[in-house]
Amino acid sequence: MSHYKVEWTSPSNIALVKYWGKFGIQLPQNPSLSFTLKNSITTMSIAISKSQTQSYSMSFRFEGRENEKFGDKITKFLKTQTDRFPWIATSHFEVESHNTFPHSSGIASSASSMSALCLCLLSLDELITDKTLESPEFFREASELSRLASGSASRSVYGGLVSWGETESIEGSSNQYASSFNEAHEIFRNYCDSILIVDDGEKSVSSRAGHGLMETHPYKEQRFNLAKANLMKLVDALKSGDVESFIEVAEEEALNLHALMMTSDPSYILLKPQSLWLIEKIRNFRNEREIPVCFTIDAGPNIHLLYPKAHRSAVVEWIEKDLSSGLVGKKWIHDEVGTGPILNQKSRKE
Ligand code: PMV
Repeated sequence: MSHYKVEWTSPSNIALVKYWGKFGIQLPQNPSLSFTLKNSITTMSIAISKSQTQSYSMSFRFEGRENEKFGDKITKFLKTQTDRFPWIATSHFEVESHNTFPHSSGIASSASSMSALCLCLLSLDELITDKTLESPEFFREASELSRLASGSASRSVYGGLVSWGETESIEGSSNQYASSFNEAHEIFRNYCDSILIVDDGEKSVSSRAGHGLMETHPYKEQRFNLAKANLMKLVDALKSGDVESFIEVAEEEALNLHALMMTSDPSYILLKPQSLWLIEKIRNFRNEREIPVCFTIDAGPNIHLLYPKAHRSAVVEWIEKDLSSGLVGKKWIHDEVGTGPILNQKSRKE
């Protein structure tokens, strides 16, 4: 029996141009671009015991407790990867996962957890096969593998601004894997994201179902064209430091994503009354105070308040004074652009 253990910490990310709709094997209908976060993270450790007489089994603990639902999701993904990693079939997995934020509430928990899982798998593979991938290849493979588990997870393996999906405006962009977008003006390199928690329960319709509904959506062609155009506009804004255009794209993308949900068949609504209350507050604050705050929203009711770091103290004061009363448990999570995943442990015991 051989024993191996790895642990990765991997962040969530927040998309500015959204991935919504896919084709083929988890390929995006349009390119997307996100900020990788710093504080909204998953730490996952995987210990495996492997021998020729062992068959696949797994114990999965989330926040210290057995969690069959999440374990089954991981098992389902691992079973799709046994051709690539044959050792999966002869290993017992002990998986431990911890999040710093509520799962399934529109803070992309699948992005952090699935990227952490895939980073762990690649590191385990390195230990077991004695082959080491150098840094650019390792992360490219991790991104491609993460994409297969959850599209947005492909972007979490890099820090800063990250794009995924083919576009003329980013050289080397690919539908298969994400890549770092390193050409942003300095104002966008340390942006803040204060996540205003409107509801921390599980969302009623999964992203998987939402992507599925795009296949027959009456506005699908318009959506994919709009997203492509928004990506080009965003890339220009990021390069030149044009915060006004950045705001236009971020808010249009957020509202468009939710408009698509409201106009799909069947339709559904993930926003809550407080989400709309916050949107109005944010727009008023921007106009009155001339501080360039804006919002984006993931597939959930929570509002991501985005702003340059220079305005942090004014914005935090405003959140505490005017907004926190409308939040669940007065809760908000301060986050900002982060530097990407970290390997905490990689060890072998024969
Ligand atoms: O990665 P998935 O399949 O959970 O889809 C994520 C979709 C959005 O979070 C709504 C947008 C995005 O690009 O992250």
